[in-house]
Amino acid sequence: MVDDAARVRAPEGEAPAPSSGGSWVEVATVKELARHKKKLVEVAGEPIALFYADGAVSAMYDVCIHKERSLSKGIVMGGKVICPGHQWMFDVDTGWCEEEERCQPSYPVRVDDDGVVYVEPRQRIARTADD
Ligand code: FES
Repeated sequence: MVDDAARVRAPEGEAPAPSSGGSWVEVATVKELARHKKKLVEVAGEPIALFYADGAVSAMYDVCIHKERSLSKGIVMGGKVICPGHQWMFDVDTGWCEEEERCQPSYPVRVDDDGVVYVEPRQRIARTADD
């Protein structure tokens, strides 16, 4: 079970909580993500792929857990990102790959009222089949 502080998918209007104690980093705007559907950013040395699907933003470690291809070069479709390497399909919300029962690490995301997107780069989340 994932608590609210660890949610990785955020609709607009969820600004970083000042008391969250994290190190939220501004990475994009909803406007640009809505237009391009994905973006690669580097935060604190971490390559992070941002995705926009179904009106929400999510963030994953860009390097595929299978053979290290860049997920930001993948295709976003049906709520999943399809890796350009071997077509593993990761849920953009959770990072979970149903077919392989493995999880791509993801990051908490917040979007403020002005549509600015923030990620918390030090909180990688990798779920298991029990989550
Ligand atoms: S490198 Fe991503 S599925 Fe193989």
